[in-house]
Amino acid sequence: MNADRGGEPWYVAAFRDDYREVYSHRDHAAARAEVAWLAERGVAGTVLDLGCGFGRHTAALRDAGCRAFGIDLSEDLLRASRDHATAALVSGRLVRGDARVLPFAAGAFDTVVVLFSSFGYFGADGDVQALSEIARVVRRGGLVVLDLMNPARIRATLVPESRTERGALVIEEQRRLEDGGRVVAKDVRLLRSGSAERSWTERVRMYELAELDVLLAEHGLARTAVSGDFDATPSSPAAPRQIVFARRN
Ligand SMILES: C[S@@+](CC[C@H](N)C(=O)[O-])C[C@H]1O[C@@H](n2cnc3c(N)ncnc32)[C@H](O)[C@@H]1O
Repeated sequence: MNADRGGEPWYVAAFRDDYREVYSHRDHAAARAEVAWLAERGVAGTVLDLGCGFGRHTAALRDAGCRAFGIDLSEDLLRASRDHATAALVSGRLVRGDARVLPFAAGAFDTVVVLFSSFGYFGADGDVQALSEIARVVRRGGLVVLDLMNPARIRATLVPESRTERGALVIEEQRRLEDGGRVVAKDVRLLRSGSAERSWTERVRMYELAELDVLLAEHGLARTAVSGDFDATPSSPAAPRQIVFARRN
């Protein structure tokens, strides 16, 4: 289910250097605003930014006084952390690794944050493995934040096809629901004159709150709050995001 046409999993193909062009609005300024909001809601202390990408939230967390570290699978994105003005903040704080096998001691973190839809990539067993690792590395009483797509909103607003030009890059995307509406699948083609075309199919499992509550409880975590966005938007079927806060029992 996760294999891309070239044989590598989609979550490897999707997060190369061109990811930053595709999602250019997901930048440091957005991360700073999100971190300010998260800090008011208990994100503090020694923090793991899981699936940190190029470290934009890790940098903002360090700037906000947290002892933040990031982990990501993508060599390209980790390398890109050095191109930014925040490079000094994250230098030596980012590590390459897999969310399903975290290289950290049990209870090492006060807080684990998983931001911008970085969960639901690995199939049922892999997602449980990742959640079990999150629960292992957060200390008792610690906080976990999962910033996820809102399944109801995605199902209601899915755009089947789009073509976006961003400078010399053309992004063609075709989207559909699979697995009874639980998985959002996206065929992505990146075209750039003079470069080989790149394509892959993303498949992200979307979790309903009730499903998450069960999964969290199975891993010693209890949901304490949910928000519909990085602001006062309440959780609802129409909310842009599903941001889940849970405490380790
Ligand atoms: C949607 S991006 C979000 C990145 C970052 N949180 C942000 O907001 O900029 C998802 C991230 O998950 C990372 N990722 C994918 N599979 C992973 C894995 N098995 N272990 C760790 N990180 C992974 C990707 O490389 C990518 O950086």
